Amino acid sequence: YGSEASIVQRNPKFSTINNDDITYFEKILGAKKVIQDNEELETANTDWMNKYKGSSKLMLQPDNTEELSQILKYCNSRCLAVVPQGGNTGLVGGSVPVFDEVIVNTRRMNKIISFDEVSGVLVCEAGCILENLISFLDQKGFIMPLDLGAKGSCQIGGNVSTNAGGLRLVRYGSLHGTVLGLEAVLANGDVIDMLGTLRKDNTGYDLKHLFIGSEGSLGIITKVSILTPPKLSAVNIAFLACEDYASCQKLLFQAKRRLGEILSAFEFLDAQAMNLVLHHLDSVRNPLPSSIYSFYVLIETTGSNESSDKEKLEAFLLHAMETGLVSDGAIAQDSSQASSFWHIREGIPEALQKAGAVYKYDLSIPVEKMYDLVEDMRLRLGDDRANVVGYGHLGDGNLHLNVSAPKYDDDILAKIEPFVYEWTSRHRGSISAEHGLGLMKAEKIYYSKSSETVQLMASIKRLLDPNGVLNPYKVIPPSLLS
Ligand code: FAD
Ligand code: MLT
Ligand code: ZN
Repeated sequence: YGSEASIVQRNPKFSTINNDDITYFEKILGAKKVIQDNEELETANTDWMNKYKGSSKLMLQPDNTEELSQILKYCNSRCLAVVPQGGNTGLVGGSVPVFDEVIVNTRRMNKIISFDEVSGVLVCEAGCILENLISFLDQKGFIMPLDLGAKGSCQIGGNVSTNAGGLRLVRYGSLHGTVLGLEAVLANGDVIDMLGTLRKDNTGYDLKHLFIGSEGSLGIITKVSILTPPKLSAVNIAFLACEDYASCQKLLFQAKRRLGEILSAFEFLDAQAMNLVLHHLDSVRNPLPSSIYSFYVLIETTGSNESSDKEKLEAFLLHAMETGLVSDGAIAQDSSQASSFWHIREGIPEALQKAGAVYKYDLSIPVEKMYDLVEDMRLRLGDDRANVVGYGHLGDGNLHLNVSAPKYDDDILAKIEPFVYEWTSRHRGSISAEHGLGLMKAEKIYYSKSSETVQLMASIKRLLDPNGVLNPYKVIPPSLLS
């Protein structure tokens, strides 16, 4: 397992689970929602990357807000630490216990509460799996404003808690814009109803934003209302090859102007990422097999007019080819080819996972500087045990720099960190663009936030969770809270 967990100490103020606690939880929830089975706990204690592993002896799966509120009220009064968990696809060690925290998993809270076909506002429980929401909306002629590779397992509550970005942010913006309201339970069990469905509501502080992206450190989100865009009829996807990073950048500049309002995704991957996907995922075929290129760009357009959208995309591509920005390319001819293009990009995390251990860095960096970091890292590691891979949401200035190695190795880690954080901070970037801080980066927060800002965050945490029982050791440096 990764090494971050070994540097934090269990806070002795937290109690340990005893038989009376189990009896209480069985009384309020019923035995089947009180999970002590070793196999289920093993899965819930281990994160998606196999990097972080806790040793919780108890997972609770409430059915509704009232049950969840009773759980938190009790844990708070007994000083039992809690880790909120959705689909457990988080990538920064936030969703699994560090020690023996009680896991509160929202998977049973998976009802769709309402959908308004005029406004497009969907209200649902936090445990709804993203892909199920996508399918539900598809039948109604709408889409979710966010999409990501983990859609088959991640839950909307987890998405909102991490303020997940994903593949469509370039078009629909972040969850801070599309989440219109939410309900959350505080550490003491108080239920805070902020489940508005209005586009505009300036009545005082908009406190829902505190819960969007706070990774379960301030409360557990139980319901969400979210603005969903209509499903438009014309979706086109192009998979393109570029010789160098400068061309990818220029292509983005052109795409924003020439595709404008129909641009719905602009993703990139380098040759190392492409090779990993081709090597580790059986179902992937290279759509541009005639050569190996240094960079690949996936562009999606979404609009309402099939013929004019296609014309726009073709004119854009012709211009890009003529000016030498694009060396090769293909436009998906049907929906199965479209999904196969997406599968290449969305499959990168899985390919990396299959390749062995992976050090993941999720950074916002000015687009023109972004790939310099990948190259600097390659030079620095200069070692064939470590494969440095770059991909991400170029349209949003979000680089995923990943270092793949046969196993987690402190020598490799020492070469990557703090170099990667210092580099990012020097360029006024963010050390967490979309994955959050979790356990991995709680202590690194100062690379992206001033000490006054972190102090204010700690004050808010103390106000909302005075005993610090919610997701301890994560997000905020633990020393500030003890
Ligand atoms: P979990 O992993 O269970 O939890 C994540 C964090 O939120 C934890 O800190 C947890 O304590 C907290 N939490 C969970 N539920 C709640 C709740 N109801 N209330 C309060 N706190 C809660 N992220 C992106 O931003 N963009 C991507 O494109 C993207 N792609 C991914 C692709 C893959 C293959 C994988 C494995 C992950 C990807 N991620 C991406 C990471 C991303 O954070 C998660 O996939 C997702 O948003 C987390 O949802 P989850 O339900 O799995 O939450
Ligand atoms: C992605 O964009 O694929 C995700 O954020 C996951 C990752 O960074 O690997
Ligand atoms: Zn991403």
